[in-house]
Amino acid sequence: MTETNSDTLLISMQGISKVFPGVQALTNVDFSLKYGEIHALMGGNGAGKSTLIKVLTGVEHPDSGHIFLAGKEVHVRSPQHAQSLGISTVYQEVNLCPNLTVAENILIGRAPMRLGSIDWKKLNAQAQEIMNRVLGMEIDVTVMLGSYSVAIQQMVAIVRALEIGNAKVLILDEPTSSLSRRETEQLFEVMRRLKSEGVGIIFITHFLDQVYEITDRITIIRNGGLVGTFETASMTRLELITKMIGKTIIELEDLSRIKANISKHISGDLVLETQDLGQSGQVEPISLTLHAGEVLGLAGLVGAGRTETVGLIFGLETPDSGEMSVAGKKVRHFSPLDSIKRGLALLPEDRKAAGIVDELTVRENIVLALQAGQGWFKYINLAKQYEIAEKYMKLLEIATPSADQQVKNLSGGNQQKVILARWLATNPRVLILDEPTRGIDVGTKAEIQKLVLLLADEGKACIFISSELEEVLRTSHRIAVMSDHRKIAEFSGDTSEHEIMRVMAGE
Ligand SMILES: Nc1ncnc2c1ncn2[C@@H]1O[C@H](COP(=O)(O)OP(=O)(O)OP(=O)(O)O)[C@@H](O)[C@H]1O
Ligand SMILES: [Mg+2]
Repeated sequence: MTETNSDTLLISMQGISKVFPGVQALTNVDFSLKYGEIHALMGGNGAGKSTLIKVLTGVEHPDSGHIFLAGKEVHVRSPQHAQSLGISTVYQEVNLCPNLTVAENILIGRAPMRLGSIDWKKLNAQAQEIMNRVLGMEIDVTVMLGSYSVAIQQMVAIVRALEIGNAKVLILDEPTSSLSRRETEQLFEVMRRLKSEGVGIIFITHFLDQVYEITDRITIIRNGGLVGTFETASMTRLELITKMIGKTIIELEDLSRIKANISKHISGDLVLETQDLGQSGQVEPISLTLHAGEVLGLAGLVGAGRTETVGLIFGLETPDSGEMSVAGKKVRHFSPLDSIKRGLALLPEDRKAAGIVDELTVRENIVLALQAGQGWFKYINLAKQYEIAEKYMKLLEIATPSADQQVKNLSGGNQQKVILARWLATNPRVLILDEPTRGIDVGTKAEIQKLVLLLADEGKACIFISSELEEVLRTSHRIAVMSDHRKIAEFSGDTSEHEIMRVMAGE
């Protein structure tokens, strides 16, 4: 454990506890941040990471404990107060205004004025200058934020957080979960520069590689309690994972042995087939087959068109070329509701926009698709709803005090599991998973991979999208590689990472 003199600390949090109804989110947690340090805050889903951050930024008030900023005790009253103290935050969910331009989002509340009204020309020029300076990125700042990818929106959120006030502390709660490798590199460059200027950075992520690449120290919390603070360089991966999820090394080894049985002969029926299915400008005509008991991996870089492809298959968009059949029947009407009735399920990539209903409870969220598929007249009685909800809470280890908890009170990773439960509950014949393990901790990640293979063994067909090649290789019997909105190759699941990368690079 690291010992540090509290005078030299940028932030020192001591004995922080926080209780929510039915949940002890934090118990007596200590945390410190030095000047010019990048500090990883690690722990499983629901461990209390975001809550600790919210206490530091005045979103939540601790039940007990003290916070010192540059040696002086502070009582952080609100996020605005934190901001004025030089603590800037990018929260797990991007909370900018999608229907304002990028420039407006960056400079909102601080727009340059001319003759009593906003000087738009100057505003756009300033925003452009800031984007270039901070990120070295050329994007049109006069375009609505919502028309950019989640990744770009995330970058804008970071720029905004940095530009308001004089940030001494920057907090990033899973900022990279939807960034491509290149965008992550850009972010790391910005982080390294800030570090050299003495800014302290708290970095939350579930990607271990990134922790080792960029952080100086690691603080681990588990079930709301402090496990400890460690020098990154002196901690092995295995130690880190073991401390995070509290499982023994033997159990972990078992998880790492997950691998689709490629030699298994897929003799199942053809459950889904597309022939030159396409939508101009979005998806080039694509032909895919999927059999019962098979996992088809979709590999490719961010923006390759994988999400658009499964969107067509599920009927979120209407194709303008080709055809599709499900279980031998030609599809005539493309709509999500028709898809559910046909036995398709789609776990969307953008869970916030297309999935979770904040105001509903865990139970209501889980039974939603099942109820919609059966029609609202065939009401699923309450006892049955609880039975279904509780089954999946157990299966996916969803951390919630009860099925009646509002889903917005769950941690990010646990909200994700609720959406997965929703689609599993429909008992689909074809399960389409778009980045199902994003934001999920390492332990649960392996559990989800295992679950997918188990479902395949039971005869379900699955389309699995992930930006982590290793994960695609582990879970897939067959892999289609996409680039530039078209399928460019297909491999059997025993191919190598190297081989797929080669094809993606266009060699
Ligand atoms: N407003 C709230 N009301 C009730 N419970 C809450 C609230 N906010 C958080 N919790 C609970 O506190 C615990 C810690 O949640 P927190 O969001 O801090 O986890 P986390 O470590 O950030 O997880 P993840 O990796 O999934 O984002 C969870 O059990 C969560 O359900
Ligand atoms: Mg969180």
